Amino acid sequence: MRILGIETTCDETSAAVLENGRTILSNIVFSQVRLHKRFHGVVPELASRAHMEKIAPVMEEALRRAGAGRAGIDAVAFARGPGLPGALLVGRMAAETASRLFNVRLVGVNHLEGHLLACELADQAPLKFPLVALIVSGGHTELWIVKGYGRYRALGRTRDDAAGEAFDKVSKLLGLGYPGGQAVERAAAAGDASAVKFPRPYLPGSWDFSFSGLKTAVAYYLRDSRAGARADSGAFAADICASFQEAVTDTLAVKAVQAALAFGIPDIAVGGGVAANSRLRVKLSEKAAENKIRLRFVEKRYCMDNAAMIALAGYRKIKGGAGKTSIAIDPELKIKSWAR
Ligand code: KG4
Ligand code: ZN
Repeated sequence: MRILGIETTCDETSAAVLENGRTILSNIVFSQVRLHKRFHGVVPELASRAHMEKIAPVMEEALRRAGAGRAGIDAVAFARGPGLPGALLVGRMAAETASRLFNVRLVGVNHLEGHLLACELADQAPLKFPLVALIVSGGHTELWIVKGYGRYRALGRTRDDAAGEAFDKVSKLLGLGYPGGQAVERAAAAGDASAVKFPRPYLPGSWDFSFSGLKTAVAYYLRDSRAGARADSGAFAADICASFQEAVTDTLAVKAVQAALAFGIPDIAVGGGVAANSRLRVKLSEKAAENKIRLRFVEKRYCMDNAAMIALAGYRKIKGGAGKTSIAIDPELKIKSWAR
């Protein structure tokens, strides 16, 4: 079965063709990053317009590279949300049009589900359930319990900034450019992670996250030390990046492992743009190993938004795994307090 996937939730216009839920025949990603760079963030109206311009050529290229004409496609899957409303409309219209022209089934999938299932992309083994999912991107930071394909229950999510957004904002504060995740990680490599003791927003008693206070702590630290001699040196920025990255990755790793332990679930899977962060990968691997928890990360090249993950989510839905995708927070869920 060949599925044409379409992704337009934020600032990547992407189309992919996936065969039998395993083989990526094509995965074209047009990134709008150059368009949004000077604003240090995604401008929704510009994003919608760029999607409109690029969606047709990107789809055409994906089909061409896959060697698939309209007869070679069995279904069309698109990311129906969450995302920017105007951007979502473009993907939805393109998907609907293609499915009618090709006379094939249309499935809308959850973008975050795509980030999680991306763990299976490129011939990786199917996920093992139940698992704890940590989805960390520019727009979301979510902790789920996943009982099977399409069986999701959100434990917690960010109350303010997403983890990736915090990276982007700290990068902006330090003048390191946009998007900030990779820039901060690169700068952090030369820094001392214990140089500044930034707070760890664990939010004891809740599975939620909150990164805006951490971002503000960085802003205050910068303001207060700007008068200092080191303030403009590369070493100073490197230390801040390393210390900030340590605080974010500590928070994510501790909460994910605690969730697995609290619910007696021996598997964790991590997806989303921030899952590409090497420090997070190392730290979570260590903590998981210490606690005999198995860990899966999305391959780095599929962490960022792409349509192959959407096609895969569509495939799982068609294969019947889906059912209802419930990702509402369950207030009845007992939360074990693990404050330290
Ligand atoms: O998943 P994604 O492509 O888009 C959303 O769905 O939001 O994630 C993009 C986010 C950006 O905030 C970017 O700064 C962050 O992922 N990111 C990283 C790294 N690479 C990308 N954050 C930390 N470390 C990285 N290496
Ligand atoms: Zn995403």
